[in-house]
Amino acid sequence: MTDTVVLPGPQARTEKDIDPTLDLIAEIERLKKEKNAVILAHYYQDGEIQDLADFVGDSLDLSRRAAATNADVILFCGVRFMGEVAKILSPKKLVLIPDAEAGCSLEDGCKPEDFARMRKLYPDHTAITYINCSAEVKALSDIIVTSSNAETIIRSLKDSQPILFAPDRHLGAYLKRRTGRENMVLWPGTCIIHEQFSERELIKLKTLHPQAKIAAHPECPETILAHADHIGSTRGILDFVLKSDAPEFIIATEKHIIHQMEKAAPRKKFIAAPGADGSCDCARCPFMALNTLEKIYLALVNEAPFIEIPESLRVAALKPLDRMLELSASIPLAASVPNAAQ
Ligand code: 13P
Repeated sequence: MTDTVVLPGPQARTEKDIDPTLDLIAEIERLKKEKNAVILAHYYQDGEIQDLADFVGDSLDLSRRAAATNADVILFCGVRFMGEVAKILSPKKLVLIPDAEAGCSLEDGCKPEDFARMRKLYPDHTAITYINCSAEVKALSDIIVTSSNAETIIRSLKDSQPILFAPDRHLGAYLKRRTGRENMVLWPGTCIIHEQFSERELIKLKTLHPQAKIAAHPECPETILAHADHIGSTRGILDFVLKSDAPEFIIATEKHIIHQMEKAAPRKKFIAAPGADGSCDCARCPFMALNTLEKIYLALVNEAPFIEIPESLRVAALKPLDRMLELSASIPLAASVPNAAQ
């Protein structure tokens, strides 16, 4: 766990203290009003959490919502780095997360000291860093990107400008192919979920569902992306399946996004992309799955775990995040978003 999370104190309520007859959803709604809190959730959260949230979105939209909300408290249902982003952008707000252990394999695979060494090896390179990283790594970067704005941001740089791209090598390789840039050095990180999808099983599944379109997140390896009819961020994938006339889709990203798809297009069929043994629950992120209704309720009651970032680190991490928001101005905020509130 990083030291940007402050845990509940010894007097805090725990799951053992929750009355089993309590209507958790009603209590969360009541606490939300009482504390002027907004609940932001990523598409990878359990369906019941998405349904409870005021706003569900991809990393870019959630960052923009976190920066713009009038609430006093942001309860961020996602993983820790997302809560950190909210705190960096909205330092006066109390930013709660349901579970301090909800990390990210991409963040874990890119330690700030290693990243600082890499930067020294490539002093002339612009460090373009995927938002799935720690506040410390953000502070060492020039521009932060998400999967929905990375290509636009890279294209905004001169062709001659060399780039150090971290920490997702599959996203980096995809961006290299899309932009035709040769001068991109890639950090060797991967996401444990997208890395597990199996090309062989995907081909078998497609044979069983010949009408199905394949939609994939660019964190997938090239072997998976090569079969995709659409490649994009979570919001991009959602937009694609809703606009397409196809009756069936194979979804190569974390499977909980299927909840929004089934709600918005109940007649279409959505199948999670398979892992290597064809039957594992591979498309489920174990970090995202740590968040539960009980922990959301307790976070509001205890006002913890919360994010706390030393001001010098926050200011350093804000600079490349602000660059990202500036360079994303041409990308519209999701127009009709499930549960959109403030
Ligand atoms: P987006 O929601 O921006 O597509 O990112 C998803 C993500 O974090 C994948 O790990």
